[in-house]
Amino acid sequence: MSKFVVEKARAMDGSVTVGGSKNAALPILAATILADSSSTINDVPDLADIGSMLELLRCLGATVSKDKNSVTVSCKKLLCDVTSYELVSSFRASFLLMGPLLAKCKKAKISLPGGCPIGARPVDLHLKGLAYMGAKINQGHGYVEAKCKKLTGADIYLDFPSVGATENLMMAASLADGQTVIENAAVEPEVVDLANFINSMGGNISGAGTDTIKVTGVESLKGSSHTVIPDRIEAGTFAAVAAITGSRIQINNVVTEHLKPITAKLKEIGADVKESGGSLTVDARAKIKAANIKTLPYPGFPTDMQAPYTAIMSVAEGTSIIVETIFENRFLHVPELMRMGAKIKIDGRAAVVEGVKSLTGAKVRATDLRAGAALVLAALAADGETEISGIEHIERGYSEFDTKLQSLGVNIERME
Ligand code: UD1
Repeated sequence: MSKFVVEKARAMDGSVTVGGSKNAALPILAATILADSSSTINDVPDLADIGSMLELLRCLGATVSKDKNSVTVSCKKLLCDVTSYELVSSFRASFLLMGPLLAKCKKAKISLPGGCPIGARPVDLHLKGLAYMGAKINQGHGYVEAKCKKLTGADIYLDFPSVGATENLMMAASLADGQTVIENAAVEPEVVDLANFINSMGGNISGAGTDTIKVTGVESLKGSSHTVIPDRIEAGTFAAVAAITGSRIQINNVVTEHLKPITAKLKEIGADVKESGGSLTVDARAKIKAANIKTLPYPGFPTDMQAPYTAIMSVAEGTSIIVETIFENRFLHVPELMRMGAKIKIDGRAAVVEGVKSLTGAKVRATDLRAGAALVLAALAADGETEISGIEHIERGYSEFDTKLQSLGVNIERME
């Protein structure tokens, strides 16, 4: 099993470039099968989850080719069943194929994604929306099977602005008969990027980025070329590296607008943040102060940043209260941070973090992607050496994390 061995970092002054967004690339790759001709997607990050999505597309009959970070998908004849439990269960975003498959083949069978360390993560909102559009849904033996004569536009109100459900329904509706209105839709930048891609293929989606999305179904879509938005979570993680190490880091290839919820929090804890074109400079050479955090759907503070920012708060001056409202079990990093000397108490969905002067290096385990990033951050502020196992979780979401940290001056080694 691979692990990271990380030494305490000194204050750094450097720059780093983030890659394309994983969470935008995954639904966009799923949407390529909606078209009758080939699409090329640029700035696709080189990550395990992306590799699994490409593998699933191949299993569905698509021809997939990759040239550095550009992926071309051509799908002349589709098979409609994604039966590989191994592939589907390895990453939840596989379920994003349900909407496009149903729209294209009028039937789809996908192995039901299982639980996940951060919570149950049901797909009821995806299925309810598809049922409103005329799909007959059957669940059994670990599969979801959906069928329809045709998908018909419908008015859908989401009980919660689920990112995945909004994306699945937008994809299904883009080839349905008539207009679909999705209310209480997710407004995340990744949803907007997917809508832009579908529109570039000839789709008719308006309102993406607001809580009411209107999709007028079209007869067919043709392949197109699209560049994925930069990864705001990767950018936020390098901003956290600056904050926890008292460094100045220029983060290139960002959409500063997408980072507002994060930069507001960075300013509150005492960092100086400057935006310039496509880059963000975080100067955290002053002492970092405690601040309360509550995760919310965009444009609130992202749940994917909660674990990394809990690591920062564990060495900030003062006490912070961190409330997780999106996922039911997203404090798995806390016991590991406590093994490194953090003072944190969990009470239901809240964590009370009392900042300590310093952490101490220890052997810790990453249990999920962002919890793993939090441990790397804590290691940068911990005396001595920290050994982080379970790094396959980290590498699902960060491409060349160790190399990028090394280029900033961090002493991090990947050990096999
Ligand atoms: C996406 C992101 C993930 C991020 C999350 C919230 C991708 C590939 N992943 O995940 O990194 O943390 O948004 O910003 O884009 N829910 C239901 N029923 C449903 C669907 C969701 O109850 O049918 C609940 C979930 O259990 C969770 C909440 O809604 O508690 C948010 O989930 P959702 O917005 O759907 O997240 P994902 O799309 O899975």
